[in-house]
Order: sequence, then C-alpha cells, then structure tokens
Amino acid sequence: MHASNTVTASLRQLATPQGFFIGAAADAQTLRDDAGYRTLLAREFNMLVAENAMKFGPLCPQPDQYDFANADTLVAFAATNGMQVRGHTLVWHQQLPQWLEHGTQTPAQVKAILKKHIQTLVGRYRGRIAMWDVVNEAFDDNGPALRDSFWLKKLGPEYLAWAFQWAHAADPAAQLVYNDFGIEGMNAKSAAALALVTRLKAAGVPIHAVGMQMHITPEMPVRLAENIARFRKAGFAVQFTEVDVQLPMPVQPAALAQQADIYRALLETAMTSGINTFVMWGFTDRHSWVPHFFKGKGAALPFDEQLQPKPAYAALHAVLTQSPSRQ
Ligand code: XIL
Repeated sequence: MHASNTVTASLRQLATPQGFFIGAAADAQTLRDDAGYRTLLAREFNMLVAENAMKFGPLCPQPDQYDFANADTLVAFAATNGMQVRGHTLVWHQQLPQWLEHGTQTPAQVKAILKKHIQTLVGRYRGRIAMWDVVNEAFDDNGPALRDSFWLKKLGPEYLAWAFQWAHAADPAAQLVYNDFGIEGMNAKSAAALALVTRLKAAGVPIHAVGMQMHITPEMPVRLAENIARFRKAGFAVQFTEVDVQLPMPVQPAALAQQADIYRALLETAMTSGINTFVMWGFTDRHSWVPHFFKGKGAALPFDEQLQPKPAYAALHAVLTQSPSRQ
C-alpha cells in the first residue's frame, strides 16, 4: 500500500483499475445548481443513476409528451466524465404518470403504452446505458407475494416477461436487472425473488442480474454473502443498487463509526462475492431522500451536508485500497 495513494486517490481511481463500478444516484437540477455537488460526483464515481429523471411519471407527464431534459443532462454528464450509466427504472408502481395511473385505458391499451414507453426510453439511450432496472419492486413490501400493483392489476404477471423482452429488443447489449428492496438477506422475499428470476430465465426471458437496493439501518442483512451466492449460482449477476445506511437524527459520532463499519462490511462483501457494481442512493447528506421518507432518520451517505467525507467514506476508501487487483 502506498500512503500517497490513500491520501490522494478518489474512490473511482481505486475502483476503475479493478473493473469495479462505484456509483451514486444523481439529481439533474442539483447537478445544474451546485458546483460542489458536480465536482464531487465526477471525481469520486465511475457510474451514475438518475434518482428520478428516468421514471415514467417525471419523464412523461402527458400522453406521448416526453421531457428528456433531465435524463439527457445526466447521460451527457456521465459521458463527459467517463462514467457508466445505470437506467432506473422501466416498470414500477410508483411515480407513474397521472394520466395512466388514474386513466381509463383498457388492459390492451396499457400493454401497448408500456411497450412503447420501453421502446422509447431504452431506444433513446441505446448503447449509452450499460444496465437497466427493468422491473422495480414487483414483490409486496415484505414478500413473498407479487405486489398487487397497477401493472399486475392491468396486465397480470405476464408483464414481467414482456418488460424484459421489450427492453432487450430495444437495446440487445444492455444488462437487464430485476431490482428490489428487502431481498438482501436470506428471507422469504429473497427466496421468492430467486424463484421468479429463475423461472423467467428458464423460460428464455432475457434477465441477467438482480439488484439488491440495500436501504438499511446500521445492521447487516441476514447472511448476505450466502444470499448473494445463491443468486449467482442460479446464473445471475448481483449488484448493490441503492445503498444507504440510515442513522437516527441528530447524528452522534458513535453512530457515524457504526455506519462506517457497515459501509466497510458491505463493500468487502461485494468484492469478495463477485459483485462489481456498488451504487449508493446519492453521495452527500446535502441531497438524500432519507430525511424526507423516514421520520427522524438521516445522515445516510458517505459525505456530509458540507460535502466533507465522513467515516463511511474513509471505510469505502480503505476497502478499495486494500482489495487485490482483479485480473
Ligand atoms: C426515491 C427518490 O430518491 C425520491 O426523490 C422520490 O421522491 C421517490 O423515489 N427505491 C427506488 C427509488 O427504487 O427509485 C426510490 O427513489 C427510493 C426507493
């Protein structure tokens, strides 16, 4: 280990030579408004994902009227800065357009709308988006049943296979991902997710990877490595797609140390389990969904509100520094 590297190298400078993707969700408006945010995102990460800009509702507020400004901003930023892009997300029960969620379309019309949406979005960025979260959160919050979502109600469970098939036709080179929360540990929901993706793959559906969101408190998922291994054994790449580690507010120094231990353990587990994609749901506490969605929680990311590195950042840095080079 060279001391000079540990002082000066960014996360991406350590990760890239190892074929490892370290990423963050990004917000297009913040990117435009906040130079510090922009600089840090480009310096530290070799992958980004749109936090909201590629979701159906924000993208398509009126039938057939797409506003790609925010998504384009993010994709262009990634290209300028040599970053890969994760696409998020094609089929989700949240952030749907009002005209669709509260519309009167028949099932056949909904099917045609979804197909066209996937063709439009995946087709626009064909060759520029490495991987897509094709279906997001298809299971009930606690599993193991399929969520009784807008899509399931309108289309039945076939929507799952269709979405992957349409995405594959629109960009045959993109890696296609099933993404969910609560499937990180060994539990009924992860077992159901494994059964689902296994069944789809066996039926010839183009599905390549499973995304474990990893929105957690400072506690490791139950038997994480074992769970990753069973997905990989079934033929799926595994990614951590939305990592954040939520702390009770106001944040205490001991909690920051505990959070660093979790970030360290997560990245170590990823790197020793054959995972090459570790994406956080943001990177600075200045811009995070956590305080807005979880009462009394916050400080979930590796940089603080002043964009200063927290103990969690040092932990990630240390793991990437110590990890043996891959090939
Ligand atoms: C969240 C965004 O961070 C918020 O800004 C938005 O208001 C709601 O969605 N799982 C997902 C993400 O797959 O798309 C969600 O993102 C967080 C939970």
